[in-house]
Parts: sequence; C-alpha cells; structure tokens
Amino acid sequence: MEKLLTIADGVEEDTRAAVSTEDAVSVLAEVVSRAALFDGPDSLVTIQFDLGTADERLGCLVTLGPGVSTVEPGWLPDAPATVRQDLSELVRAVFGPTGGEHATREVELMEGPAPNTIDPSAVLAKRRAAATAVHQVLKACSPERLDLDTLALRFGSDKWAEHWYTPHYDRHFEQYRNRRVRLLEIGIGGYDAPDQGAESLRMWKYYFRRGLINGLDIFDKSSLDEPRLRTIKGSQADARFLTELTGRIGPLDIVIDDGSHLSADVILSFQTLFPLLRPGGLYVIEDLQTSYWPGWNGGSTDLDDPGTSLGFLKTLVDSLHHQEQTGRTPSTTDRMIGGLHFYHNIAFIEKSVNAEQASAAWIPRDLDPMTWMYPATPEEDTK
Ligand SMILES: C[S@@+](CC[C@H](N)C(=O)[O-])C[C@H]1O[C@@H](n2cnc3c(N)ncnc32)[C@H](O)[C@@H]1O
Repeated sequence: MEKLLTIADGVEEDTRAAVSTEDAVSVLAEVVSRAALFDGPDSLVTIQFDLGTADERLGCLVTLGPGVSTVEPGWLPDAPATVRQDLSELVRAVFGPTGGEHATREVELMEGPAPNTIDPSAVLAKRRAAATAVHQVLKACSPERLDLDTLALRFGSDKWAEHWYTPHYDRHFEQYRNRRVRLLEIGIGGYDAPDQGAESLRMWKYYFRRGLINGLDIFDKSSLDEPRLRTIKGSQADARFLTELTGRIGPLDIVIDDGSHLSADVILSFQTLFPLLRPGGLYVIEDLQTSYWPGWNGGSTDLDDPGTSLGFLKTLVDSLHHQEQTGRTPSTTDRMIGGLHFYHNIAFIEKSVNAEQASAAWIPRDLDPMTWMYPATPEEDTK
C-alpha cells in the first residue's frame, strides 16, 4: 500500500511508469473497502474491471452484495457491468492527494433481454442491482468527504454519541485529511476479545483516505488487520517498546491516547512519543476525566499535582510560555510545545518549534507598567 500511496503523488507520467499489473488487485481492494460507505445491491453482482497499462489489459472481478465484497483477477464474459479505465489513472484517483480524474473511464451495463420478453420484473431487478453495484463502486473510486460524526456512527465508534469528540477531531484533523498521515491510536477496543474493537481505527482509515493507521493494545488484535490498518500488541506503559515501535512503523504525524487512561501511563506515553512525533504533528489525549479519579492514579484534592494527567498538562502551559519566564532554562519539551487546545475531557497538543521571540528585553519585568510607562512629572511630584 505504501508503494501505491507514493506513486499516486507527483506527475502522471511517473505514476504510469511505476504502476504494475499486481497493483490492480490492491487498488480495487481499497475501492471495495471504501464501497462499504455506500448503499449496495440487494443481490450479488459481479462487475468486470478492465484496467489498462501501456502494454496490456488486466481483468479483475469485483463482487458486491449483502455481506459480500471481493476482488479477484479474471474475466467474466457475461458480466452485468463493465468498468474500463487506465490503471494509473485509477491509482491516482484512489490514492492521489486530490482524487484525480476519470477521463479514461468507460462504464457499460449489459443490456440483457427486453423486459417484456421473458420475466419483466426479474430482468428489471437484475438491471437495478447491477446499476446499484456500479454506483457503489464508482462512488468509492472518488474521494468522499463524510464528516466524522457520520463515520463514527457508520463504524460504531463511541467518539460520537457516548463521547462528543468528533467535532473537535474534525476541527483539528481537517488539515491532514488529504495527506499521507501515519497515525497511532493507543487502545484498539474490545479488551481481551481478539475479534472485537478497531471501530475507531476503521473510522480513521476512511477519514484519512491516504493514511496508514496503526493501533496498539495490550491484547492481540491481529485478526482485525486489513490493508492500511495494522494492529500491534504491546503496552503504552513500556517506554522502550514505544520508542522501538516508532522506529519500526515510521515517524508519526498523529498519536491518540485512548488506552488505559491511568495518569501514570498517559504521562509516560506522552513523554516518550511526543518527542518522536513529526514537527507539525498532533498528540491527542482522550478521557481526561480519569485525571480526577483516584482509581486511575488521579485525584481531585491537588488539582495541580503533576502526577495526574491534567496536572501534568497544565505544566505544558508554562512550557508554551517558557521564553517569558525569568531564569528558566528551556527543557526539550518546552521547545516543542506549539499549541494547546482543551475541550471537555480531551486535549490536543501541537508539536512545532516553540521559539517565538519573547517580549522585548527593554520592558522591565519587575515594575508596575503604569509606573514606568507614565513616570510622574516633577510638577506632580511636588503636589
Ligand atoms: C476505550 S478502549 C479503546 C477504544 C478505541 N480506541 C475506540 O475508540 O474504539 C481501551 C483499550 O485500551 C486497551 N489498553 C488498556 N491498557 C493498555 C495499555 N497499557 N497499553 C495499550 N492498550 C491498553 C484495552 O485493552 C482496550 O482495548
């Protein structure tokens, strides 16, 4: 998948030169998985894809229907529908940053017998099913910008309706939507049930149509893996493992902590992963209510306790303003905090070089501003 994401960028000639016959099934596998967002036919329909490269035609069969979505190489002479297109153009449309064009695409629905000759309703039902399947697959070939509330509902994520996080995510993630982002979410969901969870990972996969989505959980969730969505077993409480993981999966653009929600784990994961984020990246921490709960290593007696998630995050406000403090030697974290955004139970921390110039050195820090800006005149002194 990484190859397809890479060759879909840049100029058309380069995509055409780099695309190979094996890519046809991979790109259609992505199309079929995106097709889940749209209504499909109520009976099985096989669509013939006839994809061209410079020297040959490649046949692939896409079958859609209730609970079924498959892709395999092959030709079906009596296919109820055929889609012809240059393979390189399809790769750019599906994986390119702008969605690309469909200038070489031809769509043909099989005519079949006249409806009044044999069994009119059966003939019409077949045509309708073929048309619905073609509509479903063509919609999936172009970028669809469904908002996160809709995607959360579609994939059963609790980030909308149980929590109310998706509008905040939409606001902060919109800028990354067409980029080749690498995302890590700590906490896949479903706890010890190996086949449960990944609702939010699937939501991210469709939201970031060019993203590589990684999920981390203490339980094995490998049965949930799919193209562009990888699960990893490990603990967010293990700093060495987190560092090794980032080296293995590549520099991250986005980290979401929706794991144990224990303050100690939240702080350790942030301290380990935030320095490894790409500049311009975002670190998100969910369910901050647990910061106030003793069972989660939190508490509500000392609200500034830096051992609780929110007490720790409050210290980042001072990091953000380190230039303005007298006598502070900036820490590595101080220099990386680009912005902080707090909402109910969720925080977004931006990573960028925090080196904005401090206020002018000639402004006296230890005097009342009215005294030095408007010093008393000799006349006033004598009054
Ligand atoms: C709230 S669920 C995650 C839900 C998921 N992110 C979603 O939005 O659909 C929390 C998950 O974190 C996992 N978890 C708990 N402790 C963890 C740890 N130390 N490291 C990684 N994952 C952990 C649990 O097994 C559970 O599956």
